Amino acid sequence: MSLFATGVTVVTSLDDHGEPHSMTANSFTSVCLDPPTVLICVAHGTHTYGYVEKNRRFGVNILGDNQEELGVYFAKRPEDRQEGTEYHYTLAEGEIPMLEDSMVFFGCEVVGAHVYGDHTVYMGEVKEVIRNEEHNPLMFYKSRWYHPTDRME
Ligand SMILES: Cc1cc2nc3c(=O)[nH]c(=O)nc-3n(C[C@H](O)[C@H](O)[C@H](O)COP(=O)(O)O)c2cc1C
Repeated sequence: MSLFATGVTVVTSLDDHGEPHSMTANSFTSVCLDPPTVLICVAHGTHTYGYVEKNRRFGVNILGDNQEELGVYFAKRPEDRQEGTEYHYTLAEGEIPMLEDSMVFFGCEVVGAHVYGDHTVYMGEVKEVIRNEEHNPLMFYKSRWYHPTDRME
């Protein structure tokens, strides 16, 4: 799998206190356009799993190459996330947290869930899309952060 180059997203949800919560994820793909639907695979050991199970909503924020620090930060367990990393949320439609300055935000409502092994695949119908394409995408390849050099207009 490490030879499959992917983009990087941050999946957002609300925690048990109604506060925004984030986790880095690259198991994101489009399912279909009609209706607009995407999927993510969430490990049962993550906090995000509990929050998405409960709220049945999630956000997907595609990271730009200026956001590697956030990708690293949100890949850590919350207790290991050290202060000093700056980020801001706004609440999008349906009270879904949106990470400011990401390339694209998808606000999704869970329309299907399939448990397999230690993950659940969530299908999310996209209810809102916000674009901000100022940067190249951040990528992940061979277990490392990868920065494409060509700017695609
Ligand atoms: C590049 C990258 C991609 C990741 N993709 C996923 C993913 O698709 N699904 C998942 O459950 N965890 C994924 N992870 C691991 C989570 O980010 C990590 O377990 C995180 O600590 C979970 O946070 P949480 O427990 O606060 O929800 C990925 C980590 C990295 C570095």
